[in-house]
Amino acid sequence: MKITSATFAGSSTKAEQRPARRLPEFAFIGRSNVGKSSLINMLCNNARLAMTSSTPGKTKVVNHFLINDNWYLVDLPGYGYAKLDRKGRDELRRLIDEYICDSQDLMNLFVLIDSRHDITKIDLDFIHQLGERGIPFSIIYTKADKVGVNVLKATMERNCRTLEEEWEELPDMLVSSSQDRKGREEILAYIEKILKTI
Ligand code: GTP
Ligand code: MG
Repeated sequence: MKITSATFAGSSTKAEQRPARRLPEFAFIGRSNVGKSSLINMLCNNARLAMTSSTPGKTKVVNHFLINDNWYLVDLPGYGYAKLDRKGRDELRRLIDEYICDSQDLMNLFVLIDSRHDITKIDLDFIHQLGERGIPFSIIYTKADKVGVNVLKATMERNCRTLEEEWEELPDMLVSSSQDRKGREEILAYIEKILKTI
């Protein structure tokens, strides 16, 4: 799929502040600093669309980006940022939960995992919650440029074993690097396939 236009469509901290125009949404979630905002920029060929930072906790609101005047990419804050105080963490968690529980237009949630790390309890708890709520999701391994293919393969296999402890069927898995622009075509084709089912 070609992206012909990508524009910022608004920030929100409450459901009623989201863009009035209802369109299919594809959202990105994962631990703080995993590369959500960078991946959105890479997909859209625009390094300045979503704000990124080497300091975790950069995205603190829900950001909608209108793509091809037809659907939204949604950048969510990260979960599990230990350095935020309790109040800050609770607020981000509330935002994330509210978005996830109240998004009739959410077609798929991409759960991002850093290619260098094993899946953590916080990821597993989050994924468990998605299962309970029946929210469609898939996994994207980010920052693949930082590991060799064999290391990544081994990490992915270990993570599959961990997920199999709870899940009968494994979610779809994709690999990306915003630095090397890896995974762009695959992720866009994945989205296009879902859009065609609507
Ligand atoms: P929060 O909004 O704070 O939750 O973070 P985020 O998940 O949106 O991460 P963000 O995109 O801001 O990226 C965090 C850091 O990782 C930045 O310094 C990025 O440059 C870096 N980064 C993101 N993607 C990649 C990647 O594919 N490769 C490498 N090497 N670095 C990346
Ligand atoms: Mg971000």
